Amino acid sequence: MSHAEDNEGTRRDFLYYATAGAGAVTAGAAIWPLVNQMNPSADVKALSSILVDVSGVEVGTQISVMFLGKPVFIRRRTQEEIDAARAVELSGLIDTSSENPNKPGTDAADENRTMDEAGEWLVMMGVCTHLGCVPLGDGSGDFNGWFCPCHGSHYDTAGRMRKGPAPQNLHVPVAEFTDATTIKLG
Ligand code: FES
Repeated sequence: MSHAEDNEGTRRDFLYYATAGAGAVTAGAAIWPLVNQMNPSADVKALSSILVDVSGVEVGTQISVMFLGKPVFIRRRTQEEIDAARAVELSGLIDTSSENPNKPGTDAADENRTMDEAGEWLVMMGVCTHLGCVPLGDGSGDFNGWFCPCHGSHYDTAGRMRKGPAPQNLHVPVAEFTDATTIKLG
């Protein structure tokens, strides 16, 4: 395989995204360790960064992409979700940190969790901060955000921990918009 073909294959592997959510993420997670073992060079490449085309993500939906062997949720929130998240008193939160390396040292205010000032784009690791299960999305749980069924952790519409055993908000990965419809992870 030529170098060009190799890069082509890498892009194809890393740029896919799934609209089906949890089911597709599970399939991806199952395949990933095998790929890593069989192809160390693919593992090294995965440590860099990936570009995700979000032009097809409608308001009120999310996609999941695999990055560094873990699912990343990219949600385009509705105004209702944004309003609900911004109405929450920070003093009532279990984890008062934004857990967002893009805004280090900030508190867990909704504005510090999202990619854009309007709060439409929320990008988070799809990894429960309790023991690492993949939470269910699309308005799941008591706070209409995400719910981890493994031991019952509830996250709100900003992905902040609200009830259950998980100690922290869902972590935000290093991410930025490179243009209006492309998010770079890593
Ligand atoms: S791993 Fe999510 S609640 Fe335990």
